[in-house]
Amino acid sequence: MSKPDQIKHVAVLGAGTIGASWTALFLARGLSVAVQDPNPAAEAYVRRYVADAWPTLHRLGMAADAAPDRWTFHASPVAAVDRAEFVQENAPERLEIKRALYAEIDAALPPRAILASSSSGLMMSDLQPGVASASRMAIGHPFNPPHLIPLVEVVGGKDTAPATVDWCLDFYRHIGKRPIHIRKEAPGHLANRLQAALWREAINAVVTGLASVEDVDTAISAGPGLRWAAMGPHMTFHLGGGEGGMTHMLAQFRPAFEAWWRTMGTPELTDAVCLQLIEGVAAEARGRDMATLVRDRDAVLLPLLELVSKPGSRT
Ligand SMILES: NC(=O)c1ccc[n+]([C@@H]2O[C@H](COP(=O)([O-])OP(=O)(O)OC[C@H]3O[C@@H](n4cnc5c(N)ncnc54)[C@H](O)[C@@H]3O)[C@@H](O)[C@H]2O)c1
Repeated sequence: MSKPDQIKHVAVLGAGTIGASWTALFLARGLSVAVQDPNPAAEAYVRRYVADAWPTLHRLGMAADAAPDRWTFHASPVAAVDRAEFVQENAPERLEIKRALYAEIDAALPPRAILASSSSGLMMSDLQPGVASASRMAIGHPFNPPHLIPLVEVVGGKDTAPATVDWCLDFYRHIGKRPIHIRKEAPGHLANRLQAALWREAINAVVTGLASVEDVDTAISAGPGLRWAAMGPHMTFHLGGGEGGMTHMLAQFRPAFEAWWRTMGTPELTDAVCLQLIEGVAAEARGRDMATLVRDRDAVLLPLLELVSKPGSRT
């Protein structure tokens, strides 16, 4: 393995939403990138994506000494991984597609290269069987868009060498991410499981008539969501306990939380429920198209990222 802070050339396999965003980040961090996708249209997509992301990356203090055109496009994954010191794999979230891809590149992967998969929920142990370079493969799960959101979840599989996990954590830290080590494999890793738990109750609230889709969203974005950008749910509740911290918080609210948990349900995503959610967000959007919604989100997200990426910030 090369030292994480000496990496100069990486490969990105699969150049859709996530692969294009990783490409922009790697370029902004001064790396050269070999991008691969079987769809020839992906080349133009990546070019557009990088051009759109570049001013934002500048604004966040990246890209100053970097060039947005230090990348090549390949249809063949074997050609893309040639000379790569690190590979970020972003092929579709289907076990059989990723397995076939790994079988194809296995012999071509340079002997010191590390591969991380962006998979949102597949387990590396299910991707490793029969792969000779399996010890150098781990999950490196980002949040959309990876060029902006700091979190990366690193998870090893059964055949992943512990040194691979450490290497990935160091590499992601080196390029400015906030990686965390997930110590066991679980479907959805960690952060998506947390999102799924919250969304389950958010949908349940709509289905049982507790509140509208829009009001459920406001309940998070104007309430606990603001605090969660500063600190996570445990620390937030430590502060909720006042001077007594978590000890007092638990003494006071333990029976209440246990009682609330007992009343929570798991909604079924029937066609009718899906329609309720689709109509709910349409009403909440009030005619704003997707590009406008993205702009509205980024108008809040970018200053927030500037704030939390200041040296000394814990977030
Ligand atoms: N979209 C998200 O919010 C998100 C967030 C984090 C992680 N991920 C993960 O990232 C990965 C990619 O997701 P996405 O949202 O970018 O999907 P996407 O559909 O936008 O892009 C997938 C790309 O892979 C290409 N592709 C198809 N077959 C391929 C193959 N055999 N080899 C290489 N590339 C191939 C497609 O042409 C497409 O460009 C998935 O594993 C997903 O779980 C997605």
